[in-house]
This record gives sequence, structure tokens and C-alpha cells, in this order.
Amino acid sequence: MDRIAVRGGTPLKGEIAISGAKNACLTLMPAALLTDEPLTLTNTPRLADIKTMSELLESLGCEVAPLQDRRVLAIGTERISNHTAHYDIVRKMRASILVLGPMLAREGEAIVSLPGGCAIGARPVDLHLKAMEALGAVLELEDGYVHASAPNGLTGAVVDLPFASVGATENALMAATLAKGESVIRNAAREPEIVDLANCLIAMGAKIEGAGSSEIRIQGVPRLHGATHRVIADRIEAGTYMIAAAITNGDIVLTGVTRDLVGAFADKLEEAGVLVEDVEHGVRVRRAGEHLKPVHIETEPFPGFPTDLQAQMMALLTLAEGDSEIEEKIFENRFMHVPELSRMGAHIEVHGGAAMIHGPAHLTGAPVMATDLRASVSLVLAGLAAEGETIVNRVYHLDRGYERVEEKLSACGANIRRLSE
Ligand code: EPZ
Repeated sequence: MDRIAVRGGTPLKGEIAISGAKNACLTLMPAALLTDEPLTLTNTPRLADIKTMSELLESLGCEVAPLQDRRVLAIGTERISNHTAHYDIVRKMRASILVLGPMLAREGEAIVSLPGGCAIGARPVDLHLKAMEALGAVLELEDGYVHASAPNGLTGAVVDLPFASVGATENALMAATLAKGESVIRNAAREPEIVDLANCLIAMGAKIEGAGSSEIRIQGVPRLHGATHRVIADRIEAGTYMIAAAITNGDIVLTGVTRDLVGAFADKLEEAGVLVEDVEHGVRVRRAGEHLKPVHIETEPFPGFPTDLQAQMMALLTLAEGDSEIEEKIFENRFMHVPELSRMGAHIEVHGGAAMIHGPAHLTGAPVMATDLRASVSLVLAGLAAEGETIVNRVYHLDRGYERVEEKLSACGANIRRLSE
């Protein structure tokens, strides 16, 4: 099991190219199920989760051809030979549920294993299932699988989401493109990944208005055709490396992104004393002055502060001059990085969904354990600022969402290396 060793203290300088967005790619890939023509995705990130989604699609009968060193995925779904997404793949990655909507819309049947919970919470899929029922599907739950059927196809409807769920919005949006008549998704998630999915579906012939707003209107069409679509840049990866610049008091340019992709996050960083500026080919990040300032953060659906950058921001705030507070309002258990950061010398108290971070702390290296994707990278970030060496165990969590993290950081001067067992 790989580990990563980090020795802190070096201000990072240089450039980091931001990869395609994991969470855009994981919904764009199942969109290929909606047509019997090839969907080609470019700027795809080389991540474990992308390989898992490729395996899942291949298990349904898709042909997934990685091209140009896996930077391009050509996905052909001439016919779907298997309608069942099996537990042994679904349990590895919650995003597997995103084959439900497109498979149901294309085939009139989908049998998908219910995802187990995961480290950051129960994460049910009830909103996905309600959306499919609203579009006319009949669902039965048995032996851990949801059997969805719509033998006469789906029918356009109003899908009211009680919570602006990203995944439920994506499933409903994909299913509605082939439903008969008009659908409206109310309280839709507004993340850039939703807009990217809508743009790809429109390129495939779908009729969609309002993506990026909380109301998306879809006119169903009889069929979709193939397309080529470039995956947007990964705003969470970008935000993570912005923290790497700030936590080491470095000066980094992130290429392939603009500041508005991380708007609320960049605003909070600036409140904490970090400059985030659009430059010619990306975004330049460095501290405004010597010290970092404490801030109050609440995680919210887009365009609010992203929950996927909460753990990384917490690592930075351990160095701020004063008390910061973070309220995690999206997931019920997303503070598992706290005990590990505390072992490195951070002073953090958790009360329910709120964490108080007392700074500045003097961070010292330690062997630490990653528990989920974003928690693991927050430990690497803390290691970049800690005195001595930090060993991050269970790095497979990191590899799910960060492409070659040790290469990208060491290219900017970080003392970081992968210990392959
Ligand atoms: C997406 O997950 C992302 N994953 C997550 O990123 C991200 O944290 C999350 O959106 C919020 O931004 C992908 O895009 C693959 P949700 P998703 O549906 O769709 C509850 C990462 O680190 N909920 O908006 O699962 C749920 O339990 C990952 O890259 C229900 O109760 O997020 C959670 O508390 C982690 N019922 C909240 O809503 C449902 O049917 C947010 O879920 C669906 C969700």
C-alpha cells in the first residue's frame, strides 16, 4: 500500500497545470449510455475513479478506449448488453449511481446496486430514486439493488429536489433528455460540473435551458447523437493547490483555470490574507503579507464555499493568527482529518458540525492516516508546512482524485516522494 513522505518548510514556487475535473468526468462518462454513437471526452484526468467508471461502463457493454495517454476517452455504446451495475463495482465508488438515469432513459430498465455509505456519511440516494419515479419509472428495492423500469419510456415531469443534490440533479438531467415532453428540475444544483454536463448533452442534441441556475428546463427528444466534449478544469484540484501556495508562503501560478471557477473559495482565501489573481495563462496565488488571518466558513452548495475544499482550508487555518470556525453543512461526518491534524500539533475542537481552529499552531511532522479523498490531501498540505517529516498512509484515497500529486508538488520545490510498498 503506497505512502507519501513530505518534509515541510519549502515555499512552493512555479507552475501547476490543473487537470480535467473528476466530478465532471464522472457524470459525462455515463452520458455516453444515452446514445448508440460514440461520445469522445477530452482533457480527462488520469485518476482511479475514472478507471472505476470505465470498468462499470464496460460491464454494461460499452467500449471505453483510453487514447493519448488516457487524456482522451472514446466511449461507444452501440448496445447495452447488461442492465445491472453490480455491487462489487458500485461499492468502490458512489458515483456509480449515475448510470441509473441514462440507462433507464435509453433501455427502459436499470438494475443498480445501492451504494454503501462511505467515510463521510450515510449518503443515501433517495433523491435520485424519487427523481426517476417523478419521470415515470417504477422502482423496486430488493437484495440491495434498485430495479428501475420504464417499459414505455420516461415521461417529462417536474422534479422537485428538497436539497440541491449534485448527483440527483445529474441523474434527472440525463434521464429527462430522452423523456417524452418537458421536464423541469426545481432546486437544481448549480455546480459548474452541472453546466459542463448540460453543454455536453446539448452538443449531443439535447434541448436544455437554465443549467447553472436552480431551475433547469428540458424538452425531451427521441434520440441523442455522438459528440466530442472537453472536460472542464477541476476547481477542487485548483483550490487544493492554492492552499499549497498559501500554506508554504510560496508563489504559484495554476494554469488552465480562472479565478471565477473558485469564486467563493477565492474570496475566503483573500479574507484570510491570500492574494488570488487572474494572470495571462491562469491564476497566481501568494500571501498578501507575512501572517494569515482567521475566518468563519460555512460549506454550502455552489456558489457557496465548497465542502470538497473544507479539509484543505482547515489545514491552512491552523496557521492563522487567531480563532477560525468552519461549519460543515453538507455532510454529517466530514471532520475525520481533525484528529490527524491534531497529531501534527493543530489545536482544533469539534462540536457537532462545527470546528473551532485555534491558531497559530506549530505543525510538526507525524505518521498520519488518510480516511477520505479530501482529508488525505489536507494531511499532505499540513505536511508541506510542518517541521520534519510527515508520512501519509493509505494514499489510494489520494489517487482517486489527484493526478500525480507528488509530481505536481515536487515540480514546485516540495520535498515530497511516494513510498511504494
Ligand atoms: C457530489 O457528490 C460530489 N461527487 C462530491 O465530491 C461533493 O462533495 C458533493 O457533490 C457536494 O458538492 C461527485 O460529483 C462524484 P450531493 P453527491 O448529492 O452527488 C445528501 C469528492 O470529494 N443526499 O450533493 O453525492 C448526501 O447524503 C466528492 O470529490 C441525500 O440525502 O453529493 C449529502 O449529505 C465527495 N440523498 C448531501 O446530500 C440523496 O439522494 C450532498 O449530496 C443525495 C444526496
